[in-house]
Amino acid sequence: MGTEAEYNLAAEMLALIPQPVLVIPGNHDERERFRACFGHSSYMPNSGPLHFAAGDQGAVLILGLDITVPGAHHGDMDDAACLWLEQRLAEEPDRPTLIMMHQPPFDSGIPYIDAYCCRQGERLAAIVSRYPAVERILCGHIHRFMQLRFGATMLVTAPSTTTAIALRLREGAEPASFVEPPAMLLHHWRPQLCLITHLVPIGSFQGPLPFA
Ligand SMILES: [Fe+2]
Repeated sequence: MGTEAEYNLAAEMLALIPQPVLVIPGNHDERERFRACFGHSSYMPNSGPLHFAAGDQGAVLILGLDITVPGAHHGDMDDAACLWLEQRLAEEPDRPTLIMMHQPPFDSGIPYIDAYCCRQGERLAAIVSRYPAVERILCGHIHRFMQLRFGATMLVTAPSTTTAIALRLREGAEPASFVEPPAMLLHHWRPQLCLITHLVPIGSFQGPLPFA
């Protein structure tokens, strides 16, 4: 679990990013240290799970869903998370919305990461199925890029900026990680159109080359 020094270092590094930064907790976070470090942000609640609605970041409503279970590596779409999400979506049902959460709510087929997924994902699928304005669900945790249809919306998982979980799909496969090319996702809102997700490799590459 994150120490105070590690949170301070993370805050220092994130402060270098000129764009607004919205953070959600993962399984290595300690909820109260996380809140103490980032709680000064206007969107972070003062107590309980770290759910937040950031409606002031442009046309797209950004919902941060805290499905972490203190002390555990899996997540859980529990009653409180379901209620909170349903209420937020019902407030602005027609607004394009992006939901961020850490553990993916589906079985990826990689057995050693699926053991630590977000449980009761079917409850999330049922909720978002009723709100077609949900453009995307974004997850981390799995350290690989994946995309799938989920509850009448699209779900994508972020690639890793550090080690990648090994792509091993056999039952009982040995857990492992590899150093693969780091990457991130860029979600570009095109007004009156849709949200477009770009997979962006991180590094220095040859170019720009002539466009031919
Ligand atoms: Fe994680």
